[in-house]
Amino acid sequence: MDCIKFIVYNVLLSALSFLCEAKGKPSLGLVGNSTGVTRSTSGGTVLVGGGTDVDAAMQWMINKSGCGDFVVIRASGTDAYNSYIYDLGCANSVETLLINSPTLANDPEVDTKIRGAEALFIAGGDQADYVNYWKGTKVQDALNYLRNVKKVPIGGTSAGCAILGQSYFSALKGSVTSSQALTNPYHTYVTLGYNDFLSLPYLSNVITDSHFSSRDRTGRLVTFLARMNKEYGVVGRGIGVDESTAVCIENDGKSKVFGSGTAFFLSQNGSPNTPETCVSGSPLHWYRNRQAVIVYKIAGSQLGSGSFDLTTWSPVSGGVSQYYYVDHGTLGIS
Ligand SMILES: *[C@@H]1O[C@H](CO)[C@@H](O)[C@H](O)[C@H]1NC(C)=O
Ligand SMILES: *[C@@H]1O[C@H](CO)[C@@H](O)[C@H](O)[C@H]1NC(C)=O
Repeated sequence: MDCIKFIVYNVLLSALSFLCEAKGKPSLGLVGNSTGVTRSTSGGTVLVGGGTDVDAAMQWMINKSGCGDFVVIRASGTDAYNSYIYDLGCANSVETLLINSPTLANDPEVDTKIRGAEALFIAGGDQADYVNYWKGTKVQDALNYLRNVKKVPIGGTSAGCAILGQSYFSALKGSVTSSQALTNPYHTYVTLGYNDFLSLPYLSNVITDSHFSSRDRTGRLVTFLARMNKEYGVVGRGIGVDESTAVCIENDGKSKVFGSGTAFFLSQNGSPNTPETCVSGSPLHWYRNRQAVIVYKIAGSQLGSGSFDLTTWSPVSGGVSQYYYVDHGTLGIS
């Protein structure tokens, strides 16, 4: 009798674990043709500032995908992108994968699906999840492979945009406001990563930020650049993107701006112009004759406007130049 109970118990247990595993599989569904295609693609990178999606930027990706299989990855949320992207163009299929653990991020099936994509988009959410679940996994390697080796278009919005640079705001302790960062550049909320996650063309020594104007993020992005100089010894660069706006970076490093807001290309103003004071517990002071950080702003448009060359980090056309500086914790523009 005990023996039979034992067997029944074990059969139930394995049935349960089978069901749990099935449920743990990452696909939130696919629209289009589930027989994958192989298409020739061209590389590109899209930084979207969150809020309403920018149709033209998605179409730009679909075009570069050669109408192939489009994969969306996320760590929370729904399959809402599937039909949205499918209806915008000629994608053979659109599939969303929910990858919400390091175990799933190392799953061979996930790896195969990502590597099979002709375009890949990272949804919004919380970038701390992407760092906690994806960094150091097969997902990280597959994303780097897609953009650098297979040369497919990759994009992300909001949190999905925040992890695309060689340096990134990991938000491991939550978000940080401009005033918190400017008042103390080593505030515990200023959590940065560098050179240990994604490695995409033209985004070396670059940190990205989204929801830029609506959440008043200039001060924090300038602080991130100061910290990049202080900690990594580099001339820090940043791209701030407004909501409903997308920066599309071509395979040759030239970018243009789609959508209804503005994109901001920031750089420390040359190697000598390091922050005067960037230490823990004191307000940031980065003055340099009011020219600490050089900025080029391009207002987006439906057909894509302006041109900024990321290979040389120099403006080409269609924008306005400014400087940002920080006077003992207060941001100024000149
Ligand atoms: C899906 O694609 C395959 C191969 O490209 C094709 O043979 C098949 O007919 C397609 N299925 C549908 C439902 O269109
Ligand atoms: C994508 O391709 C279509 C069809 O060729 C074209 O009409 C559209 O302008 C392209 N969109 C972008 C953003 O490149």
